[in-house]
Amino acid sequence: MARPRSSHTSTRRLPASSEAILEAARVLAEGGLVAFPTETVYGLGADASNDEAIAALYAAKGRPAFNPLIAHVVDAEQAEQFARLDGRARALVLAFWPGPLTLIAPAAPDCGVSLTARAGLQSLALRAPAHPIAQSLLRALGRPIVAPSANRSGAVSPTEADHVLADLDGQIDLILDGGATRVGVESTIVSCLDERVRLLRPGGVPRDAIEAVLGEALAAPEASRELLAPGMLASHYAPRATVRLEANDIREGEFALDFAGLLARRSTAAAPTLDLSPAGDLDEAASKLFAYLRRLDDSGAATIAVAPIPNVGIGEAINDRLRRAAAPRALLRP
Ligand code: TXA
Ligand code: MG
Repeated sequence: MARPRSSHTSTRRLPASSEAILEAARVLAEGGLVAFPTETVYGLGADASNDEAIAALYAAKGRPAFNPLIAHVVDAEQAEQFARLDGRARALVLAFWPGPLTLIAPAAPDCGVSLTARAGLQSLALRAPAHPIAQSLLRALGRPIVAPSANRSGAVSPTEADHVLADLDGQIDLILDGGATRVGVESTIVSCLDERVRLLRPGGVPRDAIEAVLGEALAAPEASRELLAPGMLASHYAPRATVRLEANDIREGEFALDFAGLLARRSTAAAPTLDLSPAGDLDEAASKLFAYLRRLDDSGAATIAVAPIPNVGIGEAINDRLRRAAAPRALLRP
């Protein structure tokens, strides 16, 4: 059963103590919605077996019903109760779980993850998060938790509890505050549904690390099937400001998202600037990306000029999110 929720009640925010985690598990078990930190971004969790709670989750996010959710599990053993993992999937899970890798696998025949959360698909997205708060919450509930990123659909993903509140205050029951997330971009999503393992979304685990485990290159998504996954639609992660990519200078009136001091060195204008990593470290840049996009947006930027980011390692995920942040909005936001 879903809890009655009124838009006048404000969301409870608790530092993620062990008591708070138990309380959060109780709220989930009663059909409530709980935002919690993972190592990538904050997730908005619901009990994966509760259709009403999942419907409330889609409503709170303004998420289209055709966009399926990731089921979060404690480990591979729990995953195998809900989906069929083949040899390739098992090898990936062994190498990267718990961690920022999501697998798409065929759902088990009696899969207990709600079809609402799966958007009616016969496949299931699974991830075992590494964050200790997410792990404790999953263990306390004893069942999978479906959780998209805890932002309004189409907006920038949250890496701090404040970001969650800015988007969803009054729409959800509880936030477990565990500070800023470490990785900063969402999990890498790979599909193991046909003869090739396909990269659906670059993310926290770099492509080359996955290819090293598989012993072969990752394939592109199949247009007929996987491109329907809306996280892959052109416009997503969108700030209000216009985003100008691969900038080599800062133009009149622009704010800047810099990397390794490049724009600062090239520009004489004193534009408001945030540097993702003055030292040029891509992991640091990933962890700051969404927070800095929000900050520039909130400070009233009309256009954000973004420095080029090397497309290696986690840089592939950073560039993917930046391209979607820069894409025309009409597609996703009618
Ligand atoms: O790091 C993450 O993955 C975060 C944290 C909270 O775990 N979650 C996250 O969830 O990014 P979300 O809902 O924002 O993105 C999940 C993506 C969506 O693009 C969705 O379409 C895709 O996964 N997806 C889910 N199930 C799928 C399926 N069966 N086939 C293809 N894509 C699927
Ligand atoms: Mg998302």
